[in-house]
Amino acid sequence: MVVVGAGQMGNGIAQMSLLAGYNVTLVDINDDFVGKGWNKIDVGMKKLESKGTLPEGSTAASLMEKCKKSTNIASAVKDADIMIEAVIEKMDVKKQVFKTAGDNAPSHCVLASNTSTMSITEMSKDSGRPDKCIGMHFFNPVPLMRLIEVIYSDHSSDESVNIGIEFAESIPCLRGKRYVAKVLKDKPGFICNRVTAPAQIYQNYVFDKALDEGFTWDQLDNDSRGGPMSMTVLADYVGIDTLYHGQIYYSQTLSPDFAPGKVISQLFNEGKLGAKTGQGFRDWSKGRPKPDKTAGKAKLYNLKFPLAIMVNEACRVLEEGITTTYKIIDDTLMAGMNMPGPMAANVKTWQNQVKVLEELVELTRKEYFKPCELLTSGKWVEYI
Ligand code: 3HC
Repeated sequence: MVVVGAGQMGNGIAQMSLLAGYNVTLVDINDDFVGKGWNKIDVGMKKLESKGTLPEGSTAASLMEKCKKSTNIASAVKDADIMIEAVIEKMDVKKQVFKTAGDNAPSHCVLASNTSTMSITEMSKDSGRPDKCIGMHFFNPVPLMRLIEVIYSDHSSDESVNIGIEFAESIPCLRGKRYVAKVLKDKPGFICNRVTAPAQIYQNYVFDKALDEGFTWDQLDNDSRGGPMSMTVLADYVGIDTLYHGQIYYSQTLSPDFAPGKVISQLFNEGKLGAKTGQGFRDWSKGRPKPDKTAGKAKLYNLKFPLAIMVNEACRVLEEGITTTYKIIDDTLMAGMNMPGPMAANVKTWQNQVKVLEELVELTRKEYFKPCELLTSGKWVEYI
C-alpha cells in the first residue's frame, strides 16, 4: 500500500499499516519530509519493541524494512493495491494526487483520501476511476484513536467501499478496539467532524470574546474542563491550519457562520499552527502544554451550548442520510474523540436542547444554531 503525505496523519497511517503486515511506500514532496516521517515511525516501532508489543516474529528493524521511501507518486503506486493520501487540505493538491495515482496505479487499486472535510467526489473527478475512489478518514493521533470512517463518494462502487472497510478493520489501534463507521453520503465533515464542527462557530465566538475582554487561554480552558484535552490544547493538537482550512470549507459548503474568527485567523496568518510548529495558542517547545488549573475562569464558555449544538447537528446528519442511527453517531464520537456521543443521553431531554439552541441564537446571532426539523419534531429518537 502507498501513503502519500508523511506528516502527522500520514506517518501514523503508515505505522499502523506496517503493524498490520502490509508493505508500505511512504511518499512526500522531498527527501527531508519523507525522512522525518520515516524516522517518526521508526521511533514508534522501537518503543513498541522495547515494550514487547510488536506482532509475533517481528522486530522494529524487520517492520521498517517493509517501509520504502519515495518522492514520486507515479512510480510509488505502480504495484499498489490501495493508496491513501494525507496531504495538505487543499482541493487542487488532492486532485492532482488522485490524477497522478489514477494515471499510474494498476486498474484494481483503490484510491482513498484522509481528508477531514472535503468532497471525495470532487477530488476523484480526474482520477479516471471515480468508482474506485473512497474516503478513509483517520483520527489524530492515528495510533491511539479507534475510529476510521470509510466514505462513499457519489460514484464509489460498493466493492471499493467494502475493500476500504476490510482494510480499515485490519489496521490495529494501540489503544482499544478498532471501530469502522460506514459513511453513506459525501457531505462536508462526514460524521464525527460534522457533528462537532458547528461547536467551532461557538468556540470562535468565545476565543474572540476572550481576546477582546483580556482573558488568558488558561482562564478560558478552565471554563471547559472535562474532555481528555482542554479546548486550546486540542485546537493546537488538531492544527490551527486544519481548523482554519476546515472552517473556510464549511463556510463555503454549509453556512457562512463557519468563517474563521479573529483569533484563529491571526494564529494562522502568523504561522502559529499549534503542536506541529511548536507554537499555537500554546507553547509546545517543551512538549504537550499543561494548562494552569489555578488561573481562575473566564466564565465565557458554557458546556451546555456545544452539547446542544452536537445534538442538533447529529439530527442534521440523520436528516441528510449520512448515517442511519443515532447509536452509530454516539459510537463514532466515542471512537474518534474519546467523547461520549450526545444522542442516547438526550432521548428524554431533547426539548431542553431546543431551548438552549434558541438561547444561543439570541446570544451569538448565528442562524446556523437554529434547531432543525428532525430535532424539533422529536422524530430523531426513532432512528435507533
Ligand atoms: N508508536 C508507539 N507508541 C506510541 C505511539 C506510536 N506512534 N504514539 C503513542 N504511543 C504510546 C506512548 O508512548 C504512550 O506510551 P506509555 O503509556 O508507555 O508512555 C502511549 O502510547 C499513550 O500515549 P500518550 O501518553 O500520548 O497518550 P495519553 O494518555 O496522553 O492520551 C490521547 C492521548 C489519546 C490523544 C488523548 O489525549 C485524547 O483522547 N485526546 C483527544 C484526541 C482527539 O480528540 N482526537 C481527534 C481530533 S479530531 C481529528 O483527528 C479529525 C481530523 O480530521 C483532524
